[in-house]
Amino acid sequence: MASRRSFVKKSISLVAPLSLSTVTLKAIAEDVSDALLTLSKTDSSRMNNDEELWARLAQAYTVSPSILNLNNGGVSPQPKVVQDAVDRYYHYSNEGPTYYMWQILDKGREPLRRKLADLAGTSAEEIAVNRNTTEALATVTWGLTLSKGDEVVMTKQDYPNMIHAWKQKELRDGISIKWLNFKLPVENADEFIKGFVDATTPRTRIWHITHMINWTGQILPVKRLCEEARKRNIISIVDGSHTFAHLDFKIPDFSPDYFGTSLHKWLCAPFGTGMLYVRKENIAGLWPLFPNDKPQGADIRKFEALGTRSFAPEQAIGQAIDFHLAIGSKRKEERLHYLKKYWCEKVMQHPRIKLNVSLKPEFSCALGNFSIEGIEPERVASKLFSEYQIHTSPIKWENISGVRITPHVYTTTKDLDRFVDAVLKIASV
Ligand SMILES: Cc1ncc(COP(=O)(O)O)c(C=O)c1O
Repeated sequence: MASRRSFVKKSISLVAPLSLSTVTLKAIAEDVSDALLTLSKTDSSRMNNDEELWARLAQAYTVSPSILNLNNGGVSPQPKVVQDAVDRYYHYSNEGPTYYMWQILDKGREPLRRKLADLAGTSAEEIAVNRNTTEALATVTWGLTLSKGDEVVMTKQDYPNMIHAWKQKELRDGISIKWLNFKLPVENADEFIKGFVDATTPRTRIWHITHMINWTGQILPVKRLCEEARKRNIISIVDGSHTFAHLDFKIPDFSPDYFGTSLHKWLCAPFGTGMLYVRKENIAGLWPLFPNDKPQGADIRKFEALGTRSFAPEQAIGQAIDFHLAIGSKRKEERLHYLKKYWCEKVMQHPRIKLNVSLKPEFSCALGNFSIEGIEPERVASKLFSEYQIHTSPIKWENISGVRITPHVYTTTKDLDRFVDAVLKIASV
């Protein structure tokens, strides 16, 4: 095995970046499958720091060797097996679009729904396949019937698209938003519960809960929040854009009324794929954005009447699920947490560097955020890119100011050493 690995390494360096020969591609594929097999057979906590194994797994991706991408929080790259499936389905569709798309590929929608439901731990009858979290949660915001004066509790740290949707509803329908403003990081779950409870009045109908706040990676105690909402007869809407296939959970663990996510983030599914979960008893009462002939029906498929779209990305979600399951949800979460902690513990030693994220697994996972005293985040990110070719995400939002760093399963500790080195140099000038 060792000699094959060195052969793979050697052949990559010989041919990259022009093209990979069939033999090399085959060797890489074997290497990736060896790594996945080893992962599946070994206790997860022992795998977190097996760098050689994760480096082999990284070959499943086709990421650029010239930049170090630490903004996987924005959108994730797809493993090659997923990209190939999209290409295949796309070419297939072009052989006769209405026949191959509508009569052949569309037949894959029901098995896909069951696969997603298995991963989410729900009934397939509660899962709608769509394009992203924005679409999933807009379906809920616009589909719920609220009256003038009804109140929604949400935070200033929620995602802008959701904030904009609720603000438009406030303008149009006269509902009222009660804003919470948290100073992150928070390491006491009670602080979030108290915030939501204290903002609640007899007119409160909805708690909009972001499972993981994108700006810093802060995790909210979503199980307790959904329980508290239920006790008060309040609808819970969970924005799970950043947590699905990132944290190891099933949706019924916290039983929200509605949950939306983007599959092109942590699942590494094709760009423009997402999912909406609606608890069975809520389906009939939620109006679809694009109605079918039974907008008040109880069939989850009423949320999929989008019209003609490309079926190729949707169908390739299946390959992304298989790849994710081959790693394992728990192993993936633990490795991602390990990577975040790895760089954070190194940079936090510097007197000018402050972490804006908790290191505790219940409050954060892959995403992290740091700031350097006296240097604006934009400037830090721009230096990281122009001087070190490291791509990051500078953040200035409400009371948050820092650079967001998001490794993924293909990121190695060697990559992070390069990043840490660059940050320490920038901080030391
Ligand atoms: C918390 C959160 N919600 C929603 C979204 C929107 O996701 P999308 O653009 O895939 O709809 C994002 C995107 O980063 C996010 O971080």
